[in-house]
Amino acid sequence: IKRIGVLTSGGDAPGMNSAIRAIVRFGISKGIEVIGIERGYQGLIEEEFRVLHKDDVSEIVQRGGTILRTARSEEFKEEEGQRRAIENLKKHGIDGLIVIGGEGSLKGAYDLFKKGVNVVGIPGSIDNDIWGTDFSIGFDTACNNVIDAINKIRDTAAAHERTFVIEVMGRECGFIAFTSGLVSGADIILIPEVPIDFPYITEKLKERQRKNKKHNIIVVAEGVGSAYFIGKQIEDRLGISTRIVVLGHIQRGGSPSVFDRSIATFMGVDAVKRLLAGESGVMIGWQNNSPVSVPLEEVVKNKKRVSPELYWEVESLW
Ligand code: F6P
Repeated sequence: IKRIGVLTSGGDAPGMNSAIRAIVRFGISKGIEVIGIERGYQGLIEEEFRVLHKDDVSEIVQRGGTILRTARSEEFKEEEGQRRAIENLKKHGIDGLIVIGGEGSLKGAYDLFKKGVNVVGIPGSIDNDIWGTDFSIGFDTACNNVIDAINKIRDTAAAHERTFVIEVMGRECGFIAFTSGLVSGADIILIPEVPIDFPYITEKLKERQRKNKKHNIIVVAEGVGSAYFIGKQIEDRLGISTRIVVLGHIQRGGSPSVFDRSIATFMGVDAVKRLLAGESGVMIGWQNNSPVSVPLEEVVKNKKRVSPELYWEVESLW
């Protein structure tokens, strides 16, 4: 392998830049040329390639987002898009590809692998919903963003004796809500993995009223349903003053945490190492504080979700 390509795809995640930096610098140290592919699979189809030198990745570790930019490419899901992508890799002499992204992007990497491309994936998603890795790049920073916001909301909630419903990201997976809710002292946490009805919520809130608690923090993952609807139900059923905060894309931005920078860096190095050693069709996961190689086939076949057993086990904490 003489020339490898790197792309970031799907939702950006803080820490992706650390992975790019590690891939470029470690690759160059091994005598490899590293090509940055812009805008994910879309840029692969449209031939948006540039050589990345050591200096091109200076001053980026502290930045969120991704210097290569990203996209959710519909075209790449089609046979024709994948055919053009492979043709472009061949045309530019790229004999190994590193894909940094979430579930959908790793599925794309697996498709390329099945069509003969040497490919290694790196899990990058704030959702932490990727099977085969304890953590994906960006999750830690996103949770820090969420608890930062909750700390601030708590001040005003207490001052006004209000109930806040805070909506966080996570369409099918509640890791952000579960983890940040748990560590910020939320009073109720709602996630897609655990269906919960309104009587549970109102009973919990009534119980808190009985204990003379005057304000409440409810954290809800977006996949559960609209925070506005939940807030309205609480107001109607209990007659308490409710406010809604939808955190949205604030969660995805900002300077990556030490943890995200660190796992991204080691995963980046490991991805290059394994590609050069002839491994392909794998994702570099993070398990037991080390990078590990997991077959992409397993990554795309399995789903990682919050365990309902774990949820109920710690429910007494809120
Ligand atoms: O997958 C990451 C994520 O941030 C999800 O948590 C969220 O549901 C989705 O992306 C939002 O996507 P977009 O930025 O395309 O609106």
